[in-house]
Amino acid sequence: MRIIATENYEAMSHQAANIVASQITLKPDSVLGLATGSSPIGLYKELIARYEKGDLDFSKIKSVNLDEYVGLATTHDQSYRYFMQDNLFNHVNIDVANTYVPNGMAADPEAECKRYDEVIRSMGGVDIQVLGLGHNGHIGFNEPSDVFHLGTYLVNLKEGTIDANARFFASRDDVPRQALTMGIQSIMLARQILVVVSGEDKANAVKACFGGPVTPSVPGSVLQLHPNVILVADKAALSKL
Ligand code: GLP
Repeated sequence: MRIIATENYEAMSHQAANIVASQITLKPDSVLGLATGSSPIGLYKELIARYEKGDLDFSKIKSVNLDEYVGLATTHDQSYRYFMQDNLFNHVNIDVANTYVPNGMAADPEAECKRYDEVIRSMGGVDIQVLGLGHNGHIGFNEPSDVFHLGTYLVNLKEGTIDANARFFASRDDVPRQALTMGIQSIMLARQILVVVSGEDKANAVKACFGGPVTPSVPGSVLQLHPNVILVADKAALSKL
């Protein structure tokens, strides 16, 4: 595993963009595994800026997102599909038909999870997976558990995750209690993993994921077993590692 330490969030975003931009340059038809949350927003801004300068071409890129809330339509401004359109897809020349986010409105969530795994398989797997970290060490919406889940599944969100994400909703009651998320195996099958983390409030999660035992009670700790992980984090996030 490689660690790139940066001064702050902006520098973290810049370094992470260098890595994703290299991937796109070297393999223009890459499959990008994408994440939501505040951590990758700066990275997406940098990618948009490089696209606008003419340095990046997304026309052959495909993408799969990690997760989606159950019960939020794609038009809801807190759905992860909406987030991706707003923070990246609407601003670059990616073909939206080549972008995938689990359908949180699916009548049969189990069938939707199977379909999503098939989508990832049919694309030939993920070339580079972007990840943020939850405060409890979650990746995607893989919450602390007794087991590592394999493929995409329906997850009940932990109270702490609902608390953390309440800031984006009108009230805590509006935060969905369930999500569909890629499983740990789906994430671990990515050929490269890029973790972006910023801020002192994530220092304990970074320590637990990268400086402690590998355990499903800290889902991100499994990344220690992946052969090609790059952690790009600012000094504050790395302060306890
Ligand atoms: C959410 C997402 C994760 C994300 C995490 C951290 O729960 N499902 O993919 O990594 O929050 O979010 P943030 O980057 O806003 O701290």
